[in-house]
Amino acid sequence: MKTILVTGGTGYIGSHTAVELQAVGYDVIIADNLVNSTASVIDRIERISNGKRPLFIKADLSNETEAAAIFDNNKIDGIINFAAFKAVGESCEKPIEYYRNNLQIAINMFVNMKKHGIKYFVQSSSCTVYGEPDSNPISENTPPKFAVSPYGNTKQMVEDMLQFITQTGEIKAIALRYFNPVGAHPTALIGELPNGIPNNLMPYITQTAAGIRKQLTIFGNNYPTPDGTCIRDYIHVVDLAKAHVVAMDRFFEHKNKANFEAFNIGTGNGFSVLDIIKSFEKTTGIKLNYCFGERRAGDVVRIWADTTFAEKELGWKAELSIDEMTLSAWHWQQQLAQE
Ligand code: UFG
Repeated sequence: MKTILVTGGTGYIGSHTAVELQAVGYDVIIADNLVNSTASVIDRIERISNGKRPLFIKADLSNETEAAAIFDNNKIDGIINFAAFKAVGESCEKPIEYYRNNLQIAINMFVNMKKHGIKYFVQSSSCTVYGEPDSNPISENTPPKFAVSPYGNTKQMVEDMLQFITQTGEIKAIALRYFNPVGAHPTALIGELPNGIPNNLMPYITQTAAGIRKQLTIFGNNYPTPDGTCIRDYIHVVDLAKAHVVAMDRFFEHKNKANFEAFNIGTGNGFSVLDIIKSFEKTTGIKLNYCFGERRAGDVVRIWADTTFAEKELGWKAELSIDEMTLSAWHWQQQLAQE
């Protein structure tokens, strides 16, 4: 039985990953400082997992002492690192906090991996490392461009650190470059819980439909795309969570072909903002109140993944459709309203 430390495991993607890890027999330790999540998520993971409860440790992983204590007191076989500040806009206002937090957490993990002989590390990375693509779909071989935000830069920097750290052979790492994670668990027990006004499209849509927000503003309708709105590769969070399990299995089955590997985790399909709204309206039967507004600074026009490498090498492929993404996001929103 292998034990995986899931940092940031009470968060949106971390909680779904904890469920999928437990489902295939891993033991899970979740460490989270709860700045952007709540401890009740542990109860929900337990419910979904038929009574199997992850060990929860409340800790600020950017703090050396708190991080070290986790490793001194537990036997850990691998780490999936989700713990990070993640708001693109906020990172431009508080760049130093983003660099300190996101990089310090990663460094504390590496230091403790070396000290305790832990070999396997999966990093939560992002397609933001590619910047605005020159062509789509974008493959892993495309060189990263200068980051558009400190947040994106921290994702690039952790990948850069891993490139060098893994060269000694003590640590093997996989970076999963997510495209746009949306949707929620089919039980509607876990999902995305944005703090305050959502920055991202899907929670803004569901909160507008629920009457929490008056109107969704679509940021720009004069982009050079078929309907004038930006195109992204939206991926269901459950598919994304499963990619982490496959990445961890890859280490234990000694299938990795290099000490550091990076994979695109998307569906390979691009959908516009209007496509997402149409899917939401179709699956829920709700007419969404939206308007067109100015472009948002820093938005890439279009990006979607070349998933060939992930399919061939990881043996992983996204399975859930755009309609399953929008409908599950809505069920989660409805569930939240009842609490
Ligand atoms: N959008 C709107 N209105 C909103 C919110 C978003 O029109 O109220 C549009 C955006 O302009 C964009 C699309 O919806 O065209 C998706 O926007 P999101 O904010 O949901 O997602 P982003 O693609 O901007 O950001 C995501 C992740 C980031 C990551 C980035 C990498 O949230 O963490 O992808 O490209 F850095």
